[in-house]
Amino acid sequence: MSKYKKDILEYLMMHKDDYISGQKLAEQFNVSRTAIWKAIEVLKTQGYSVESIKNKGYRITSVPDHWDRDLLSYLLTDSIFQKQFVYEEVTSTQTVAHELLMEHDEPLLILSEIQTVGRGRFKRPWASKRDTGLWMSLVLHPNISYQQIATFNLFISIAIAEAIKNVTQLEPKIKWPNDVYINDKKVCGFLTEINGDSDGVHTIICGIGININHTIEDFDESIRDTATSFKLESKKETDRYIFIKALIDSIEHYYEAFLSQPFKELKEIYKGYSMIWDRTLRYTEGNKQIYGKAVDLKDDGVLVVLDDTGERHHFISADIEV
Ligand code: BTN
Repeated sequence: MSKYKKDILEYLMMHKDDYISGQKLAEQFNVSRTAIWKAIEVLKTQGYSVESIKNKGYRITSVPDHWDRDLLSYLLTDSIFQKQFVYEEVTSTQTVAHELLMEHDEPLLILSEIQTVGRGRFKRPWASKRDTGLWMSLVLHPNISYQQIATFNLFISIAIAEAIKNVTQLEPKIKWPNDVYINDKKVCGFLTEINGDSDGVHTIICGIGININHTIEDFDESIRDTATSFKLESKKETDRYIFIKALIDSIEHYYEAFLSQPFKELKEIYKGYSMIWDRTLRYTEGNKQIYGKAVDLKDDGVLVVLDDTGERHHFISADIEV
């Protein structure tokens, strides 16, 4: 890979609407024009379209459709996730995250184009096709009690729903505790794993899967009636770089809120996104299964469900059938 590729990429992305001459780039980075030309050729082989006009210069006109670690690093310049790990294929970004956190103390972002053994909650498999979705794990180091994990999930759900709404203009809904739906079909699931000790939680490994540009054929037949993607709902492709940037910004914003504010201050926003109110649904937690309506969400994230005999049930987590 060209030594100057990352610097040149960043510079061209910062001046995306302008043509930048080879001479100017050469002066900027104190290298020869041939070195600049070589770096541009490398960018082209990696999926960037670079327009080159005589007497004007170079301009990036489109970016790759696969994850490129240099572009990601440029987009996340101001992010707390300064350590990013981008893979072509992994078993599961969660598994990789658990390995990497042993060697790193800072926040980590792990992204893969494909997962061969992607996993969901309750040990369910999670299908993770190439170039279509966003399969990512984030490692964070809060200093919190075990009880606070339930509210972490609530803040993250809002962050994901808000990013989807802003980028796609669709109407995402949160299905407590860990899913996001659009038009009654699942578009995103996330799971939160923790490492902790007797003092509390010191590491959160949050794995997020989002169906972005899937066509119906991209889903296994068994989930075609229940799963959806941004593309299926909006009838257009979403630029995965625009989305991941919006998602990380939103997660950082709500993570900061999680660390500094009680959930009750965001409860109304959460309820505005929630899809489970006033619907009789099936709730399963371990061996317990009931049909009922959600009537309250407590400040500590506990969901209160009223069954048809009038009995109240409290859930900290559950599988809900819509
Ligand atoms: C669920 O809906 O049950 C949660 C799905 C979580 C899927 C994501 S994809 C990235 C990360 N790696 C995994 O193996 N799982 C999570």
